[in-house]
Amino acid sequence: MQELEDLALSLATEAAGLILGGRPGGLRVDHTKSTDLDVVTVMDERSEALLRDRIARERPDDGILGEEGTSRPGTSGLTWVLDPIDGTVNYLYDLPGYAVSVAVVEGDPATPGVWTPVAGAVAVPATGEIFHARRGGGARVSRLDGTGEPQSLAVTDVTDLGSILLATGFAYDREVRTGQARMVADLLPRVRDVRRLGAAAVDLCHVAAGRVDAYYESGCHVWDIAAGSLVVTEAGGVVSGLREGEPASRAMTVAAGPAAHATLSGELRALVVDPTRTQPPG
Ligand code: IPD
Repeated sequence: MQELEDLALSLATEAAGLILGGRPGGLRVDHTKSTDLDVVTVMDERSEALLRDRIARERPDDGILGEEGTSRPGTSGLTWVLDPIDGTVNYLYDLPGYAVSVAVVEGDPATPGVWTPVAGAVAVPATGEIFHARRGGGARVSRLDGTGEPQSLAVTDVTDLGSILLATGFAYDREVRTGQARMVADLLPRVRDVRRLGAAAVDLCHVAAGRVDAYYESGCHVWDIAAGSLVVTEAGGVVSGLREGEPASRAMTVAAGPAAHATLSGELRALVVDPTRTQPPG
């Protein structure tokens, strides 16, 4: 497992160097995917190609699933799950909160509840940080330039809703966003504050580092959460769907320290169940 974590670290570090150093001046949208808001740049594709080619060379028996279309079955039971740029809109606008997320999972990453992360790394080029974990090995943050010692990560022990600094994100579908906006509008006056930083993998690492108390989002794909969710659980946190014990999925991902997780997931369930308070996200 140490070997897999080291490879995830090395892959994410190399791709982070590519997207930071190779960012073209006047970067533009190359094309869109699920909706007009779901943008892809040339660097999303170059980063995925770099990751895919290295994994194919170094781990030829493993599968690969990438946000930009890579889908290669393997024979080892392990699949690399890649978000070559998480927070593409941040990257497009040259805002700092984008990342490269690399995870290796056991089981089928296309089916929630069937995959479990074994190791992962989330590299944030703009801050020079890389968050990483392996199953049973704890979660740490290191410097991308290799300086200093890795620092252990731990979630916060906040309990009450009013003290939770809450991160969330929004889907690329304008209609789905209407439901998400109602949900966050209900929560906003009742929590400490809300942050929308623009990259789900980084939001999860911020939970692990205690930089926010909790995170929830509906509509996440497996590549958004595979590495970050391991970083959270290895930092002592809980990651689930709407109910504790349910796997995180496109329907809902909730991540926090154990106490805040129980508080927040209860509130989210109430919002989804009672449509007079809000509308469930699609
Ligand atoms: C997106 C980001 C964003 C989240 C979206 C994701 P992408 O990933 O993580 O924060 O709100 O749900 O799709 O498309 O930039 O890789």
